[in-house]
Amino acid sequence: MADKKVIGAYKAYLKDHLSKKRYTHSVNVANAAVTLAKRYGADTDKAYVAGLLHDVAKELPVDELAKIVEKSSLDVCDIEKKAIPLFHGIAGAELIRTLFDIHDPEIISAIRYHTVACGNMPKLSQIIYLADLISEDRDYKDVKKMRKYSEQSLEKAMLEALKFSIRDSVDKGNTIPVSTLMAYNDFTETVK
Ligand SMILES: [Fe+2]
Ligand SMILES: [Fe+2]
Repeated sequence: MADKKVIGAYKAYLKDHLSKKRYTHSVNVANAAVTLAKRYGADTDKAYVAGLLHDVAKELPVDELAKIVEKSSLDVCDIEKKAIPLFHGIAGAELIRTLFDIHDPEIISAIRYHTVACGNMPKLSQIIYLADLISEDRDYKDVKKMRKYSEQSLEKAMLEALKFSIRDSVDKGNTIPVSTLMAYNDFTETVK
């Protein structure tokens, strides 16, 4: 387990900056991420930290989020720059560096890509993406299916999640970030 004091400080920050519901979601995602990390051989400490902090920027005012995204040195495509719901992944990855001095590239990437996924997606990023979808508080229609896929194979679960997300974007007439399509192509090739 990562240092209890450090985790306590992260939790205190989240309690101050997130609604009760989102705080609970964050803890649930951290726990789901640890379960997946154990199952698929990833670092459980990093999984807990990335899961806990993945939505750290979610409730920042939009203008603050936009400023962070604008200034970000991370690779952000034009589609993401126009999609407010996607800002918090980028801003979260920036915030954990400045707020908590976290510079681990796996944790940064996991938070940065938890909403959109990416090509050549690192294992920890896949784990956080899925943990966010299957955490205890989730109750959407196909959540049981997603939980089952996540027990069977990380790649299969990612592919199904991406299909769902892309279909949903198409249905709503939304644009699709380049990194989401790259992830979809990768997992389609992997899961044959
Ligand atoms: Fe999120
Ligand atoms: Fe989330």
